[in-house]
Amino acid sequence: MARRRLKLVVMVIMMVNFFIFIIISRHSSQDKNGLNKIRTPSKPFWAKLVPKSAYCNRQQQILDLQNNPVLAANYSAPYVPDWLNDTGLSSYPCQPNFKVTTQVKEYNSLPVRFKDFLIFMHCRSYPIMVDQPDVCKEPPFLLLAVKSLAPHFDRRQAIRQSWGRAGLVANRTVVTVFLLGNATAGDHHPDLSGMLRYESVHHRDIIQWDYRDSFFNLTVKEVLFLEWIQTRCAGARFVFKGDDDVFVNTFRILDFLGGLSEPKARDLFVGDVITNAGPHRDKKVKYFIPESMYVGAYPPYAGGGGYLYSGDIATRLHNVSRQVALYPIDDVYTGMCLRKLGLAPEKHKGFRTFNIEEKYRSNPCAYKSLMLVHPRTPQEMIQIWAWLSNPDLKCQ
Ligand SMILES: *[C@@H]1O[C@H](CO)[C@@H](O)[C@H](O)[C@H]1NC(C)=O
Ligand SMILES: *[C@@H]1O[C@H](CO)[C@@H](O)[C@H](O)[C@H]1NC(C)=O
Ligand SMILES: *[C@@H]1O[C@H](CO)[C@@H](O)[C@H](O)[C@H]1NC(C)=O
Ligand SMILES: *[C@@H]1O[C@H](CO)[C@@H](O)[C@H](O)[C@H]1NC(C)=O
Ligand SMILES: *[C@@H]1O[C@H](CO)[C@@H](O)[C@H](O)[C@H]1NC(C)=O
Ligand SMILES: *[C@@H]1O[C@H](CO)[C@@H](O)[C@H](O)[C@H]1NC(C)=O
Repeated sequence: MARRRLKLVVMVIMMVNFFIFIIISRHSSQDKNGLNKIRTPSKPFWAKLVPKSAYCNRQQQILDLQNNPVLAANYSAPYVPDWLNDTGLSSYPCQPNFKVTTQVKEYNSLPVRFKDFLIFMHCRSYPIMVDQPDVCKEPPFLLLAVKSLAPHFDRRQAIRQSWGRAGLVANRTVVTVFLLGNATAGDHHPDLSGMLRYESVHHRDIIQWDYRDSFFNLTVKEVLFLEWIQTRCAGARFVFKGDDDVFVNTFRILDFLGGLSEPKARDLFVGDVITNAGPHRDKKVKYFIPESMYVGAYPPYAGGGGYLYSGDIATRLHNVSRQVALYPIDDVYTGMCLRKLGLAPEKHKGFRTFNIEEKYRSNPCAYKSLMLVHPRTPQEMIQIWAWLSNPDLKCQ
């Protein structure tokens, strides 16, 4: 019985081989007869270069072309199509680009913050007014960088007295800096420069650049900060960047970082990651972006309330940011830079940029395993920090 079955199997295999032989020999004889010759296309097989209609997409398209060694050669003078010609746009000292008024569809009907953004979108460099050149003389394990606004004195002080206390924390070196623009530039703000100067001399943790500190310019703050890290704090092992209205559990973060091994530590980028998002088209939303500015999905990005990354990633982000057109929403912009690097931010449950359930908010133990909670007032920051610093705090 078994032998007959074996014979049958062998027969079937031989038949299959025979058919394969026929197919292959037919195929090669066709080649010999010239029936299957390689066809050379008569026209170029790449699509004609068509400018994207949304302005930010188009600016990215231009940068992509300029950074592509094959295509860039083809689109240098004298073959520059008009929409690709950005000569006359020096990025420093930066002059307004009034060409956008005709290049952006329905420019005149846009809210003024979009006009302000577009006219200065090519500007990435502004003078530093207050610097702390020696703050990282001893490269810290963790650099805490807090986006703040000049009038937020109380938030900064609460951070210094709580989660942003610099020095040795849990046997790790921590350096804290506050990132500011110029909040007096033409927006009817009171002149706080004297108080800021006092604060900066007293605490030596203020970094300030001379550009208008507005929501859409937070991306400028990001780019300037990436540059600043390279010149002033390149040795930092890890960087936390976040807002001044969050509570950060520095103990938990240091514990988490201390437990990382390579290559995980080198490629670290964690936060409250948002995936499958895109521009809001509702004019009333703070994050509204018109179709004339951007179309398409957003890459995965970590909410700007706060995220954590390695010093190595900071270097790579700085490097790649030159190839990514500025976008008016800073956390999305950082997501775009990561995507360009071929990386994606990783979601961590400890980052709660949308707060925790109300019933847990006054429970000290609820904060023990978290890394970040948003939003918190200065008083709440100090209260929560006191809870977490208490050696008698017992949580299961
Ligand atoms: C390069 O430019 C020439 C002349 O404008 C054009 O014919 C050709 O298709 C271009 N090649 C690419 C790769 O775009
Ligand atoms: C690019 O634009 C500038 C003025 O904006 C003009 O002088 C120059 O000739 C243009 N270059 C090309 C190659 O068209
Ligand atoms: C503190 O850190 C230093 C250097 O990182 C290490 O040598 C020392 O053992 C640590 N001390 C404690 C108590 O962990
Ligand atoms: C900020 O901007 C205003 C107005 O443009 C300018 O007068 C001032 O010198 C700038 N710097 C500071 C530190 O306020
Ligand atoms: C960003 O800052 C620059 C320089 O101060 C300013 O000209 C521009 O209007 C600002 N953009 C926005 C959207 O506020
Ligand atoms: C920065 O980017 C350039 C190409 O734009 C690359 O050659 C270089 O290796 C990069 N450096 C780092 C540190 O990633």
